[in-house]
Amino acid sequence: MIRVEQVSFAYVGHPELFHNISFSLERGELVALIGPNGSGKSTLALLLNGLFQPSTGIVVIDDMDAANPEHNRDIRRRVGVVFQNPEEQIVADTVEEEIAFGLELLNKPREDMFNRVANLLDEFHLRSLSQRNPEELSGGEKQRLTLAATLATGAEYLVFDEPTALLDWQGRQDLLHALKDLRRGMGILFITPYLEEVDFADRLLYLDNGTLREIPKQDRKRFCRALENEN
Ligand SMILES: Nc1ncnc2c1ncn2[C@@H]1O[C@H](COP(=O)(O)OP(=O)(O)OP(=O)(O)O)[C@@H](O)[C@H]1O
Ligand SMILES: [Mg+2]
Repeated sequence: MIRVEQVSFAYVGHPELFHNISFSLERGELVALIGPNGSGKSTLALLLNGLFQPSTGIVVIDDMDAANPEHNRDIRRRVGVVFQNPEEQIVADTVEEEIAFGLELLNKPREDMFNRVANLLDEFHLRSLSQRNPEELSGGEKQRLTLAATLATGAEYLVFDEPTALLDWQGRQDLLHALKDLRRGMGILFITPYLEEVDFADRLLYLDNGTLREIPKQDRKRFCRALENEN
């Protein structure tokens, strides 16, 4: 389980972005996170895998304190973050190597690695692009690649930061479908600006003005309608 307890955070030299926020995410659960631009959704994503540290409060991943440097490696492997901008994440020169790179971090035998890369290439419709330089891919293809590469690391929790923003309608449907399958074994935090995408989430969180609150299921429709009317 991921537990965020009473967490506050501020960028150096900036006012506090959020104050005393708490929530949990269990395996098998898909939680959607929405909130206005600049409310701190992406920042929260990076607090979950130890890339950022809270100013107060704690982030605990399966009983490991994310602030303890001894757990750095384990936590980064366990909590995969698919960044809002895939370009910030891609490191390799070919699609195939990008996926293999994640696997190398796991020190898997070569044979296993080969099979796993092949499976991920198929699963994310990347096989015909396997030798291409990721820089040449479209936004949607890059998004699929970072997702495949993140899954390759054996992550148990996934944080998707607006993964559908760069996708066309079909790509979006494919990804949402994949998420429903993934949720069976993983805990997923799904950050999205699209209210129609929160329908299938088990729980809905709303971050605004430094506070986080959970919107109960029975209030969801009313809440989303009110947000739409505001914009
Ligand atoms: N490295 C940084 N240093 C200082 N301020 C930052 C940094 N990164 C982000 N911010 C600011 O922190 C606030 C929250 O940013 P963040 O990207 O987490 O919000 P968000 O909810 O993900 O926004 P969006 O909906 O646009 O993706 C913004 O005002 C942003 O400008
Ligand atoms: Mg963001």
